[in-house]
Amino acid sequence: KKIVYSGIQPSGTFTIGNYFGAMKNWVQMQEDYRSIFCVVDLHAITMPQNPADLRRRTYESIALLLALGIDPEKSILYVQSMVPEHSELAWILNCSTYMGELSRMTQFKDKSQKQGENIRVGLFEYPVLMAADILLYQTDLVPVGNDQRQHVELARDIAMRFNQNYGNVFKVPEAYFGESGARIMSLQEPARKMSKSDENINAFVSLLDDSKTIVKKFKRAVTDSDMAVTHNREEKPGVSNLMEIYACATGKTLDEITQEFEGKGYGDFKQAVGESVADTLLPVQNEYQRLLNEKAYLEQIMHTHAEKASQIAWRTLAKVRKKVGFVTV
Ligand code: TYM
Repeated sequence: KKIVYSGIQPSGTFTIGNYFGAMKNWVQMQEDYRSIFCVVDLHAITMPQNPADLRRRTYESIALLLALGIDPEKSILYVQSMVPEHSELAWILNCSTYMGELSRMTQFKDKSQKQGENIRVGLFEYPVLMAADILLYQTDLVPVGNDQRQHVELARDIAMRFNQNYGNVFKVPEAYFGESGARIMSLQEPARKMSKSDENINAFVSLLDDSKTIVKKFKRAVTDSDMAVTHNREEKPGVSNLMEIYACATGKTLDEITQEFEGKGYGDFKQAVGESVADTLLPVQNEYQRLLNEKAYLEQIMHTHAEKASQIAWRTLAKVRKKVGFVTV
């Protein structure tokens, strides 16, 4: 079986961008692949975090992933810091990664701009840790949103270089994107990606927003002065984004959506998109609330799954340690 690996940061709430871009594919892929999913708290601390909040959000992230349909019988679902192999491999890979490569990462450029003078080293080397995550598990496919494309490319480069220098150790992974949803844009500025850290809360839909709020946010979504529900990312970015969200929530194709709203205004269309998203999320939210009260169950999963992950990760790390010349007695 091919191996699928992906991760999500436990920082802030998750948006429908995270869901349609990544987690929805995770839930589908676990049926056909050996799947491993990680809540990446080591990545989260590359930005300032309140410790109590980080710990709470790590529990919440596990609960939400379970509520979304990650099946702990089929997939491994664990917390990154509980598997120390990640930090060790990241260090080793740091030593075969160039400053120049990391300087070209667009996410680093964006995030470091906001940090002014005091840019953290961890933020700079974040993509190396991500490469370590992926490579430890001999991953074939990495289901992510489009904003992670460059990071997966780097992981491939690092893997190939290491293999060339030391002999074959790593499987060279490939990014995987769904048909639609890989780039869910802001509802207010459709040229920008939907982000949980947006100051304007109308720009994103949280997976935990209640139905009324969701419908309201879609009603306020920016469209254009045209009337037609047709897909054209350049000329009609707002409408195209809503169409893709609707496609993700309902499984309809873009053509079917255009037909459905022919002769109707944007008002009807936005209402339908809002309701479809709210209907998708309602059962997830109920299950999430139930799981939050099952702390012992969540901890049992975190514990047993970290052990399973560690067993796999250690096999790769042991080979790497030998290849680079560490003493193994
Ligand atoms: P993170 O936590 O920022 O986002 C989690 C996933 O959600 C996707 N995503 C989106 N997809 C479509 N439209 C959007 N607006 C949108 N916003 C977010 C992201 O592409 C991602 O797939 N570095 C990663 C986490 C990570 C990882 C890994 C992923 C760490 N190690 C190993 C894969 C493999 C991150 O910060 O994702």
